[in-house]
Amino acid sequence: MTRFQLTRTLPAGTADADLRADVLAGLTRTPKELPPKWFYDARGSELFEEITRLPEYYPTRTERAILRERAGEIAEATRARTLVELGSGSSEKTRHLLHALRPGLEDYVPVDVSESALTGAAEALTAELPGLRVHALVADFTRGLLLPETAGPRLVAFLGGTLGNLLPAQRAEFLRSVRALMEPGDALLLGTDLVKDEATLVAAYDDAAGVTAAFNKNVLAVLARELGADVHPDDFDHVARWDREHEWIEMRLRARHALTVKIPELGIAVPFAAGEDVRTEVSAKFRQEGVRTELAAAGLALSRWWTDEQGWFGLSLSTAV
Ligand code: SAH
Ligand code: TRP
Repeated sequence: MTRFQLTRTLPAGTADADLRADVLAGLTRTPKELPPKWFYDARGSELFEEITRLPEYYPTRTERAILRERAGEIAEATRARTLVELGSGSSEKTRHLLHALRPGLEDYVPVDVSESALTGAAEALTAELPGLRVHALVADFTRGLLLPETAGPRLVAFLGGTLGNLLPAQRAEFLRSVRALMEPGDALLLGTDLVKDEATLVAAYDDAAGVTAAFNKNVLAVLARELGADVHPDDFDHVARWDREHEWIEMRLRARHALTVKIPELGIAVPFAAGEDVRTEVSAKFRQEGVRTELAAAGLALSRWWTDEQGWFGLSLSTAV
């Protein structure tokens, strides 16, 4: 029998103090910006799953292929008894790792802000991996995480290139906080999307079917539902551009015409000029040396580096020193 437990460290709705503070700060500054974690309500998580199956969105299938090929080596190198996964989403790719880590693996601790993603993943996993304990945490991985007491050694996985959705200073702080969760000898498995040609990158964030546009605009639906904002998806265009200097993709929502968005729950009215942007996300692309340097600054020593034939996606294993 698989045992499943869920711990909620966030309020069930998203209409909490965090959302209010983020929206107030983000929409009253210049340039306007919203943090990406508010994309992932139940609908947003569904849309992201759809993105992972798009022909243009190469990161998921590329990382999955690397994981499938290297899962045995990862299991051998780490001998983990607990797998903690940050931003686990559907846990779909993680299955390769879970199978390779069994039977030594006792506990799987998926951590995500999306409760619907966690419960959906747990249903699939409990059927597939009898005997594994799944302890899901509804939590924000950028806020001090409190993990359940489970056996070491621990392997912490952070896949999907999600590290790139944090800005450089946030990444440094985040990696230090991950290191603080680890004992010497524990390992971090990190998936990072790599720098490549601009056309491939932009297409992955601006697909022909418009799924990424719908995902980006879903944050507007969250503002309407949770804060009463009188905003309509047709008021904005989806924009994805490559920032060559920072080596990141920047996702924006661009006002199609001048408008004012009233947000009664915050008591504000936010003016937009025609063509004005809200930055909704960055997705940084990495190089091996940069990954090694950022890990080292957090007290993590890169020990293995795997990539695909085209060198499009990097998977690294590092150990706490
Ligand atoms: N690991 C999966 C999902 C990546 S999408 C994959 O590789 O396909 C990013 C995931 O991180 C989503 O499931 C989202 O809900 C979650 N997420 C985003 N910001 C978060 C935060 N601050 N704290 C916890 N989870 C977060
Ligand atoms: N971690 C994913 C990435 O950076 C998240 C993502 C994919 C995303 N497509 C998106 C976020 C579109 C916002 C909009 O690739």
